[in-house]
Amino acid sequence: MAENGKSEGKPLRIGIEAIAFDIPEHYLEMADLATARGVEPAKYTAGLGQKQMAVATPCEDTVVLAAGAGQRLIKNFNIDPKSISMLIVGTETGVDHSKPVSSYVHQILGLSSECRVFEIKHACYGAMAGLTTAVNYILSGRAKGRKALVIASDIARYGKNTVGEPTQGAGAVAMLISDNPQLLEIDYNNEGFYATQVMDFWRPLYSKEAFADGHFSIQCYLDALSGAYNLYKKGDEANGAQSKAANGKFEACLYHVPFVKMAQKAHQRLLETDGGQKFEKDSPELKAALQDFEKRVAPALELNARVGNIYTGALFLSLAYLLESSAGKLAGKPISLFSYGSGCGAEFMGAKIMEGADRLMKVESNEEILSKRRQVNMAKYEEILDACSKMDLNDEENLCQPEKWDLKRPVLYLGTQNHKRIYSVNGVVLN
Ligand SMILES: CC(C)(COP(=O)(O)OP(=O)(O)OC[C@H]1O[C@@H](n2cnc3c(N)ncnc32)[C@H](O)[C@@H]1OP(=O)(O)O)[C@@H](O)C(=O)NCCC(=O)NCCS
Repeated sequence: MAENGKSEGKPLRIGIEAIAFDIPEHYLEMADLATARGVEPAKYTAGLGQKQMAVATPCEDTVVLAAGAGQRLIKNFNIDPKSISMLIVGTETGVDHSKPVSSYVHQILGLSSECRVFEIKHACYGAMAGLTTAVNYILSGRAKGRKALVIASDIARYGKNTVGEPTQGAGAVAMLISDNPQLLEIDYNNEGFYATQVMDFWRPLYSKEAFADGHFSIQCYLDALSGAYNLYKKGDEANGAQSKAANGKFEACLYHVPFVKMAQKAHQRLLETDGGQKFEKDSPELKAALQDFEKRVAPALELNARVGNIYTGALFLSLAYLLESSAGKLAGKPISLFSYGSGCGAEFMGAKIMEGADRLMKVESNEEILSKRRQVNMAKYEEILDACSKMDLNDEENLCQPEKWDLKRPVLYLGTQNHKRIYSVNGVVLN
């Protein structure tokens, strides 16, 4: 039994036992968006690094995506729902000022009532806050062999014709945290965090669309990375490790990915923080940093490029991809994870990929999930955005019609009636 960080005298191993994601059933090609907006497509593809953008229809809200990721995790990893005693949903796309997304998800997943259930909001940092909360729960010994399910779920929306429009997306990632970390072991002996009040990105209570001071938010992200990483290095030194070893020791570096190019900027900043100075344009250091990005960061970014920004789940979408695509090669090797949430709060941590993780990830491939999506054109994309903006209006007469949006998923959001959100599972409306 886990007691005070020890199991039968040995340090307790804690981390991710299972992981799965869900994405909307439709997507838009970035080139189509660029052409429609009169922008050179290379700006979105090469400049931002994006290929496609997930488009959530009105029936696919935060709850639906979170439940979809949770259901996939339970099925693919054969998890007993009764073994889960904590459910945390990290989101910045809340569906109610009071009622948490997690309560709906708890019902849909059929979890036990003996379960601590809540939602965490801190922009894109919410799921990382959930992950560390879950790790501490297991570490405390109070889980008594049971597990914590952490789900990141978001719909990134800036609106039509905005500068943030090409960095939209939607999706959810579910992670089961336990003392059987068969995919990823978290190093809970060290961590670096950072926080300061900045107005770089926000979503006012009256708006479904987010507002961002985009270029400022990039600077805030990079400064938060330096701050969190420097604290992490101090912790490493205190634990007896060499200071620069903090970066050199990681075989893969995962970052929060609002758009793929941001991960490249982040990795450059990490190396600059280690080197103590900014790399000059065209310098050998900058060229080496770009090569290092291709080796240690880029291999994890395919899902991010094809789904877009999923806010609090973006970092963990990279992790899901890396575990499936490279876990064999990286088995037993340390990796780093960096989460940034505007506003702002950030965290840097180390982890280790487990032997056999790649085999466990093969039950349903990422490509299989992506290939089931249907492409929409610009007209359909704009129709979907318009329809989404009219949801949640407590329209007594016109609930959402799933057939109109060509959806095959079992869980659907139907709209709001009598001030209550209505969900259906396999055609049966939930009470
Ligand atoms: C990310 C964001 C700031 C970009 O804004 P923008 O002013 O439209 O875009 P930029 O002019 O900066 O161009 C983006 C990149 O494309 C490049 N680019 C522009 N035109 C290009 C072209 N024709 N071909 C290739 N690259 C091109 C730019 O050089 C730039 O790359 P760089 O940052 O490496 O210099 C904007 O999408 C945004 O506000 N997003 C939401 C907030 C966000 O995601 N913040 C991230 C931190 S959380």
